[in-house]
Amino acid sequence: MNERFVKAIDGFSKASKEQKLHAVANLLSNPTQAINDLKGFWHSNPQVQQRLDEFSENTLSNFAFPFGVVPNLLLNQQLYMVPMVIEESSVVAAASKSAKFWSDKGGFHAQIINAIKIGQVHFIWNGPAELLKSHFPELKQLLFTNTTHITANMQRRGGGILDVELIDFRHAEPGYFQLKARFNTCDSMGANFINSCLEEFALILKDWLQSAQHFHNSEREAHIIMSILSNYTPDCLVRTWVQCPIENLGNQDGMDAQTFAWKFHKAVRVAEIDVHRATTHNKGIFNGIDAVVLATGNDFRAVEACGHTYAARNGQYQSLTKLDLSNGLFTYTLEIPMALGVVGGLTTLHPLVAYALELLGKPSAEELMCIAACTGLANNFGALRSLTTTGIQKGHMKMHLLNILNHFQADETQKSAAVEHFKLHKVSFTSVREFLEKWPQNTNL
Ligand code: MEV
Repeated sequence: MNERFVKAIDGFSKASKEQKLHAVANLLSNPTQAINDLKGFWHSNPQVQQRLDEFSENTLSNFAFPFGVVPNLLLNQQLYMVPMVIEESSVVAAASKSAKFWSDKGGFHAQIINAIKIGQVHFIWNGPAELLKSHFPELKQLLFTNTTHITANMQRRGGGILDVELIDFRHAEPGYFQLKARFNTCDSMGANFINSCLEEFALILKDWLQSAQHFHNSEREAHIIMSILSNYTPDCLVRTWVQCPIENLGNQDGMDAQTFAWKFHKAVRVAEIDVHRATTHNKGIFNGIDAVVLATGNDFRAVEACGHTYAARNGQYQSLTKLDLSNGLFTYTLEIPMALGVVGGLTTLHPLVAYALELLGKPSAEELMCIAACTGLANNFGALRSLTTTGIQKGHMKMHLLNILNHFQADETQKSAAVEHFKLHKVSFTSVREFLEKWPQNTNL
């Protein structure tokens, strides 16, 4: 075990930021340099820095990721400049290329299928199920009326609790029931609203069992296991697609449109059949979605978890996209659930999130779902187009070239020369190293 970590640190969270910084830097090989570097990422405005610090606990510095944009993404006949936060070099380029490709073919289309969120109170109750079920309408009424202090505001905005069901899970676990509730949280992701309602539901349930005349002795007791929203929201669903006559796909790197469409179709089929490929296929979709979700201050873990569960909804993990080639049309569709918000959370607190949302024209949560999903489809289309034609490495390594050059600490002149040189040569770690080793003899290559 690393000696430096043998002794536990007491009360770390209560130390000052400066003390924490020194304690952490002392674990590193060059503490002075580390402190300088960590402080180098602090925001120049102390108030903004304090806000960033307060997002989390034990904050030492900020972690920088590129904030980029995909220009000219045509979605539902409207042009968007889409902000993306992502470290992988080829993602923004791939989405931009797809956006350009589809811009003269009608662009991307998207529609919201539904926007319902879900939360559950999981509890154990050992009385006769029929008794609970028959009196449930009375409890349900209380769940609505006794939560108005939480829901009034959301109701004014057009949302609130939509429905609550009693679910009997005793076939899986003795005494296990759920209150399963559906919510409309309007433009907020709604996690705090939903969890507050659910915790109140749990209290109302307990009170009701204690006081209602229908229950006796141990029937008055419910063991609340937990009250929490579900990140699986299959009814908070967006569909996005592109469509054009197959021949309008044009020649793809020497491949005619029909062959390209055929090969593309097989590539999607592989991702429907094989879980290994499905995982990578869907990862490529999340390249785009996560980048938009991050840039707009949303919870990418929630969006990922939800999308992957949906991908496995038929019992086998599969591609989230489908290709239809009927009637001579290439129709490529992504259907994905995701819960996004444009108010609350980080949306007004993170300075770059505010700009990202402004850049998108201050979208509603539903419009943002369409934008994020469509960016995911753009990235996936770009990936499959490369994979089925040139292979992925050509474009990927071109974009990765600057990372390799930076790894070798190339200066600006070497970088410009290398970018020119590798327009005609294959990029690899070795070929870039050799290029730099031969420098400057190869400047006119
Ligand atoms: C790389 O980040 C994503 C891809 O692997 C996706 C795919 O294979 O479809 C290129």
